[in-house]
Amino acid sequence: MATNVSQLKRTRIDLADDVKRRMIELLNTHVVHLTDLWNQTKLAHWNVRGPHFLSYHEMLDTLAAHLVEAIDDVAERATALGGVAGLPIQDLAAQTKLPKWDLSVTKDVEVLKALADRWAVVANEARKFIEESEEHDSDTADLFTEVSRQLDQDLWFLEAHIEH
Ligand SMILES: [Fe+2]
Repeated sequence: MATNVSQLKRTRIDLADDVKRRMIELLNTHVVHLTDLWNQTKLAHWNVRGPHFLSYHEMLDTLAAHLVEAIDDVAERATALGGVAGLPIQDLAAQTKLPKWDLSVTKDVEVLKALADRWAVVANEARKFIEESEEHDSDTADLFTEVSRQLDQDLWFLEAHIEH
């Protein structure tokens, strides 16, 4: 888990400190994986090749843009709760549980399959974090729900391009 919660700042939000710490931990863990997924989606966007290049290239950029929005919303919930949001890229690389992107894979269907596999890890993490947060902090749970819904929809877009 990504943790940088020792420096909990005072806020006027009346949740207990241990709840805030736990939510910040979940939020920062998700920031790590969303950021890694964003990077991998851009690698796919830049390097994908095939007869339908342009449609894949453009779809992948739309998906990457959704991740940028999600990263910002999730990180800022961590700061709103008094935490420190995010990590330097060097620390983030050590914390991510996504497989490393293979730059030698450029064939369209293989690229989209590799991305769908990683997308599912992050989408399923969001769903797990809804469950973990809803009992303690309905606003954080609501944010994870919003992120989860978009991740699931974009996973469908990836899957629809590779499977009948
Ligand atoms: Fe681009």
